[in-house]
Amino acid sequence: KDTTYFLLINGEFVLSDSGRTITGQTPFDGTPTYTIQAASREQIDAAYQAATKAQRSWCRVPLWKRAEYLHKAAAILREHADEIGGVILREVAKNVSASKQEVLRTADLCDYIAEEGVRMEGQLLTADSFTGQPRKKLCLVQRVPLGVVLAQGPFNYPCNLTGSKVAPALIAGNTCVVKGPTQGAVAALYLTAAFHFAGVPAGVVNFVSGRGSEIGDYLVTHPLCNCISFTGGNIGLEVAKKAHMIPLQMELGGKDAAIVCADADLDVAAKCIVSGAFSYSGQRCTAVKLVLVVQEVADALLEKVLAGTRKLTVGRPEDDCEVTALIDRNAADNAEALAMDAKQKGAQWLTEFRRDGNLVYPLVVDRVTEEMRLAWEEPFAPVLPVMRVKSVDEAVQYANRLRYGLQGCVFTQNVNQAIIVASRMTAGTVQVNGAPARGPDHFLFLGHKDSGINAQGAKWSIEAMTKLKSLVINLP
Ligand code: G3P
Repeated sequence: KDTTYFLLINGEFVLSDSGRTITGQTPFDGTPTYTIQAASREQIDAAYQAATKAQRSWCRVPLWKRAEYLHKAAAILREHADEIGGVILREVAKNVSASKQEVLRTADLCDYIAEEGVRMEGQLLTADSFTGQPRKKLCLVQRVPLGVVLAQGPFNYPCNLTGSKVAPALIAGNTCVVKGPTQGAVAALYLTAAFHFAGVPAGVVNFVSGRGSEIGDYLVTHPLCNCISFTGGNIGLEVAKKAHMIPLQMELGGKDAAIVCADADLDVAAKCIVSGAFSYSGQRCTAVKLVLVVQEVADALLEKVLAGTRKLTVGRPEDDCEVTALIDRNAADNAEALAMDAKQKGAQWLTEFRRDGNLVYPLVVDRVTEEMRLAWEEPFAPVLPVMRVKSVDEAVQYANRLRYGLQGCVFTQNVNQAIIVASRMTAGTVQVNGAPARGPDHFLFLGHKDSGINAQGAKWSIEAMTKLKSLVINLP
């Protein structure tokens, strides 16, 4: 049923003061989902002002107490995992088990960040470690909060990737203005509400929704914004240009390449490629978006990849299918255009191209060449391009020419080869004999090149949301 959801400003759930709302639709069949509020500029101002005011006292709340709020929020998320999972399923067509898992993963992340946060340590330097200096100065280095963090997550993990910004921001003594993705806004609101109901003071977490095209620039250029934590597509590059000298933590697009060497365990490689390319219909920044396989094992690998692909379940998220409808019509149109472009330029579809509305069936595209869009662009859809290469060296060189550098993976049974290839790949993370993935969520996660700036992962997110400050004590 259609339900109306609110903004959260200074501890109160409110409607848009302009009366403007947006009604979402299920990706699957366009059934109306939820009605969210289109926040006005005045309401965005109010959210930032509340966050700024609240931050002055929030940063003085003892660290153990802030950690307690995070643990309480985690408990609330766990308690409501089915309900929030149901919202995620409805808004973004993620299947039943993955939707619930997203909520539980977020709860675990909040707990972990609370524990990590209380162990944040400073540093002490003494002057006499520098040549010629007497021991008369002490330098105390500590991490201090940035202020107000704009936490802007994407549709594909509306709960988890909002939580992975809010939790580190709060433990570090910042407050937040959360901007929910338009599709996924209600899940992001639930996440924000978990902190509100955990009892954080008014203004510590605020939530606004509305079309990015209308309020995005206003949010990211707001004078009271002290940090932008953004996950999304290439629009992040524009956000980075507009932001005024404030710290950025961004995870943007990816074109994660899977390099398969001649000595790879092809069963392992195929399994990882299929799950990496097609889980949540390929709508993950870390999806396998290009296979670079040396030609002598290409046929054998593809036989196994096809066998795995044919076993995938395709259909409704309620039925827990692995491949479900893409987020909207544009996404499905783009996937189709990429597939057609490749076919017209000589690529081979190894599975039939099939589309029912926004539901695109898994497609493996062999013999992709550099002239094709699929060789360079991220499909963000269940479309897997395969390029056959003469050598591992050629594969690495090609992967490094891509504009993105989020993750990559190499499949080989030779440990030396794994280390050499991984070291040469320009990506934030290279997985050896495994599919690209962000988690577990305390691991370092970051993009090189156009894939992002600054790092994520529990400890690194806390660092990204703090700045260094020193206190120098001059002794007599
Ligand atoms: O697309 C968002 C990105 O962070 C992927 O996360 O957990 O699917 O590797 P994950």
